[in-house]
Amino acid sequence: MIQKILNGKVAVITGASSGIGKAIAKRFANEGAHVVIASRDIVKGQDVVNEIVDSGNNAIFIQCDVRREEDIKFLFEETMKKYQYIDIVVANAGISGGKERVIDYDLTKWSDVLQTNLTGAFLTMREGFKSMVGKGGHIIAISSQAGIEGYAGKGAYCASKFGVRGLAHALAEEGRAFNINVSTICPGTTDTPILKASQTNVQNPMNVDAVADAAIYLATLRGNALVRDIVLERMILQ
Ligand SMILES: NC(=O)c1ccc[n+]([C@@H]2O[C@H](COP(=O)([O-])OP(=O)(O)OC[C@H]3O[C@@H](n4cnc5c(N)ncnc54)[C@H](OP(=O)(O)O)[C@@H]3O)[C@@H](O)[C@H]2O)c1
Repeated sequence: MIQKILNGKVAVITGASSGIGKAIAKRFANEGAHVVIASRDIVKGQDVVNEIVDSGNNAIFIQCDVRREEDIKFLFEETMKKYQYIDIVVANAGISGGKERVIDYDLTKWSDVLQTNLTGAFLTMREGFKSMVGKGGHIIAISSQAGIEGYAGKGAYCASKFGVRGLAHALAEEGRAFNINVSTICPGTTDTPILKASQTNVQNPMNVDAVADAAIYLATLRGNALVRDIVLERMILQ
């Protein structure tokens, strides 16, 4: 029998009801992981669970709004109750916040982008880290190319994604003593529903598989290595 590379591992993935999170969830499950799909939309989340279970793999859905501390605590408590340990956490849930110049940006919209993308990642990584103390594990935060350079019309999004990288790098230093690895993936424009919301129109977006491949690489990292960021740029620009 072929040994799958994530056999028996438990992975919590926020924002796994769509796009990049869904692709990572399916890939992890195919490699033998027990996957916990966490997002707000029960129907979309359950559809992903059904797809995974129908192909003979393991997944459950736990409804969770990453902006709410009590939801994140519930997510990790329920996962620990069911599986007793967590090996991999992917802090992926995010929104685009549309496209508008900073001088026109509304405070309510700003707060929502920061609350979802940065505070949501903070809560996910904090509770994920606590669940790994004593055993170790890997936390993967989905930042963005917009977490490395600024883009006009994307001020709040860039601020949130730069923030996610800073937070992940700080947590990586704290993780050394606990054998908890913390990395980011910074994808360029990738073909998911978020593109419509962000009014991004490019001819050749990356495929979600590129991000899922990077997540598998991190989740199976060996040899005492710490990878801070994996930056994925589109190959053909246009
Ligand atoms: N696509 C790109 O070009 C690109 C590039 C770089 C980075 N990223 C990042 O990749 C991540 C995934 O985005 P995507 O492109 O896959 O977009 P997507 O298809 O729109 O997926 C976003 C996911 O986040 C979840 N979500 C949003 N707000 C949430 C909240 N408050 N609580 C819990 N879940 C929430 C959504 O689920 P529910 O609606 O069910 O809550 C959905 O599953 C984001 O962090 C995004 O910034 C994307």
